[in-house]
Amino acid sequence: MSSAPDANADANSVETASSSSSSLPALRFDLLSLFPALFDGFLSESILKRAIEKKRVEVHRWDMREWAEGKHKQVDDRPFGGGAGMVLMAPPVVAAVEAVQAQAECPGRLIALTPQGRRLDQAWVRELAGEARIVLLCGRYEGFDERILETLEPEQLSIGDYVLSGGEVAAMVVVDAVMRLLPGVLGDAESAIDESFGPDGGLEYPHYTRPREFRGRGVPEILLGGDHAAIARWRREHRR
Ligand code: ADE
Repeated sequence: MSSAPDANADANSVETASSSSSSLPALRFDLLSLFPALFDGFLSESILKRAIEKKRVEVHRWDMREWAEGKHKQVDDRPFGGGAGMVLMAPPVVAAVEAVQAQAECPGRLIALTPQGRRLDQAWVRELAGEARIVLLCGRYEGFDERILETLEPEQLSIGDYVLSGGEVAAMVVVDAVMRLLPGVLGDAESAIDESFGPDGGLEYPHYTRPREFRGRGVPEILLGGDHAAIARWRREHRR
C-alpha cells in the first residue's frame, strides 16, 4: 500500500491559483526534493516572487519522504555491492513522481538533476520556456537507484561539471533561467533580449551607471551623448 498523501495536500505550494489575471497560462514547475524548504527564500524574493504573483509561473514543492513507507519513512539506503554513500531508493521516488505527474492533466516534462546529465545551455533554457509544465526531480546523496531512471526515463540535466550535494541548487538554476524568459516576467529595465546568449548571439557589452567617475575611471564619452545609433554601434563593437 502506498502512503501517498492526499491529492490536495500540496501544502508547500507557493502558488496554487489556476486562473490567471493575464490571458497567458502560467508555466507550472513541480519540484520534488527531500528538502523542499531549501526553496523558501528563492521563491519569496525578487523577480521569481513577482512572476508568481503575476501568475506567469506556478511553483509546487513536494517532499518525497511523504511517499516513503514505514515508521522511519526511509528514502535512502546503502548501495548493494558496498561502497561509500547512500542511494535514493526507487519505491518512494517513483511513487512521488508518478503521483505528482498525475496531479494535472499534462504530466509535464520530467527532468532529473544530476551531474551525469546533459549540460544546460541557453538554447535548452529557451526550449523549456515553451513548456506548460516542468517536473524537476532533485537527487541527494550518491545518486538515484538506477531503476528510478529506467522506470521514469527522465531527461537528465547537469548545470556544470562539478558535484553539488543535491539537485536543489541546480533546480533553482533551471527555474530562474527559464522563468525570466516568459513574457511579462521581466520589466523593461531587466530586458532579456539584449543580453548575453540572446537571440543575436554574442556576449554582453560593458555597462556603466553612476557615478560618472569611480577611482579615477570614467565612462566612455559616447554613452553620455544620447546618440542612440552611435551607442548601439559602440555596444556592438564592444560585445565580449
Ligand atoms: N546534482 C549534483 N550535482 C549536480 C550538477 N552539477 N548538476 C545538476 N544536478 C546536480
